[in-house]
Amino acid sequence: MALFQTIQTPAVTYEQPLGLFINNEFVPGVDGKTFETINPHNEKPIVAVHEGTEKDIDIAVQAARAALNGPWKQVTPSERGRLLTRLADLLERDAETVAAIEALDNGKGVSMAKGDVAASAGCIRYYGGWADKIYGQTIDTDAGSLTYTRHEPVGVCGQIIPWNFPLLMFAWKIGPALATGNTIVMKTAEQTPLSALYMGALIKEAGFPAGVVNIISGFGRTAGAAIASHMDIDKVAFTGSTPVGRQILQAAAKSNLKKVTLELGGKSPNIILPDANLEEAIGWVNLGIFFNHGQCCCAGSRILVHEAIYDEFLARFKTRAEQNKVGNPFNPETFQGPQVSQVQYDRIMGYIEAGKRAGAKVITGGSRHGGEGYYIQPTIFAGVDENMTIVKEEIFGPVCTVQKVRSEEEAIEMANNTNYGLAAAVHTTNINTAIRVSNAIKAGTVWVNNYNTLHYQMPFGGFKESGLGRELGSYALENYTEVKTVRVQLSKA
Ligand code: NAI
Ligand code: MG
Repeated sequence: MALFQTIQTPAVTYEQPLGLFINNEFVPGVDGKTFETINPHNEKPIVAVHEGTEKDIDIAVQAARAALNGPWKQVTPSERGRLLTRLADLLERDAETVAAIEALDNGKGVSMAKGDVAASAGCIRYYGGWADKIYGQTIDTDAGSLTYTRHEPVGVCGQIIPWNFPLLMFAWKIGPALATGNTIVMKTAEQTPLSALYMGALIKEAGFPAGVVNIISGFGRTAGAAIASHMDIDKVAFTGSTPVGRQILQAAAKSNLKKVTLELGGKSPNIILPDANLEEAIGWVNLGIFFNHGQCCCAGSRILVHEAIYDEFLARFKTRAEQNKVGNPFNPETFQGPQVSQVQYDRIMGYIEAGKRAGAKVITGGSRHGGEGYYIQPTIFAGVDENMTIVKEEIFGPVCTVQKVRSEEEAIEMANNTNYGLAAAVHTTNINTAIRVSNAIKAGTVWVNNYNTLHYQMPFGGFKESGLGRELGSYALENYTEVKTVRVQLSKA
């Protein structure tokens, strides 16, 4: 099968790499397998890509190890920074193409995809800025010795990413790993392999030495599992579901105790108190749950509203949700496109049916949107109780529940009544309330009077079962360096 193919999207026509990206070349998999990626707008295959399995992971790890010990070691920190900056520039040069790939392969609105491209380029450039600012400490313990620390790369990093933000998750993962001098074996999600392969071509064009970044299209149970249990991978970073996160931690424990960071699921609360600016709060609540069709780990899916404003909130939120433009990702006005796959569509519709069966009231939505593609109406449930599946489990679709609370204390208690702890928000105009509630909520990010405003300078990650470690900001650098202490005994004069 071919290693490149010209693809026409409604926005651009471009050359799509199809091979595995190993040692700066696009190659077929050892087993000669391929698999199709689907356009969720029309449920038809876009193209087949080469599939990597355990054997290809081995080859990619060897390439990454050779680069780590060879050419990449010779590249100065400033030059690493320049390479990352150049990659960010190339991504911006090709922004329209990459946004079109994301819209085609994932189904997100092309306008949102452009936002992902900008955020990804920003992230890569930000970590380029860190590359020559990674250093340790000198520690003065006594006059007879000198002690210092070095922040050395961890080594070969396995990175496993999901399909909800294919490009952005790629950027979040490679940025801190490359800034600190590591090499990478990346496995993309089987639903959305295309944008990362395009990035492979840009990585080569930017001038990264061969083997520094290797990109494998493939499935979780084969290629993904091979990364998690590999004896020559020093660290694994994963974003995806909590059950798979547990498996990766176990595989790391059973193999070589590779370092693990996990960014997992959520069931994030969004609290609206009586003194909130209701118009603004409703805008943020709408964005909080319906952005990216609810396929966000930090989606504000549990909306907790004070009883004093509950009726008005619900009526106005319903009106707002019904104004969201659902449809073809290539329409620049589209806010909500299709869900990524048939599997995800079925899973979400299953939750909607479970909610109805349990007696929850559908305020709006609750059904399929249109006749073709994996489209689901923006759906709001009310009249729920805390034990319902739709209140407890991550749905990962355009579905939320609205619950009534009688006080700030009750809101906090309900907000924390979950095994997850990724994100939360509180809407209030009282600074004291805002800080009190933010401090009381167990979550990795708390937004006050906004939602989903991630930024590459801000650390992101989960309390409780939402994960291990932090991505982004300076915090992510810690995941990718080993601290070495060097103690020098001085000879007496
Ligand atoms: P998943 O966790 O199975 O997939 C995420 C990534 O992990 C993909 O690259 C997949 O190939 C890989 N993977 C799967 N099994 C693996 C294994 N045994 N070893 C190593 N890698 C493996 O998630 P899936 O099935 O796509 O979605 C299921 C649910 O997971 C969603 O409904 C949502 O609740 C959650 N999810 C959360 C995400 C987040 O951003 N935190 C992203 C995607 C899904
Ligand atoms: Mg696809």
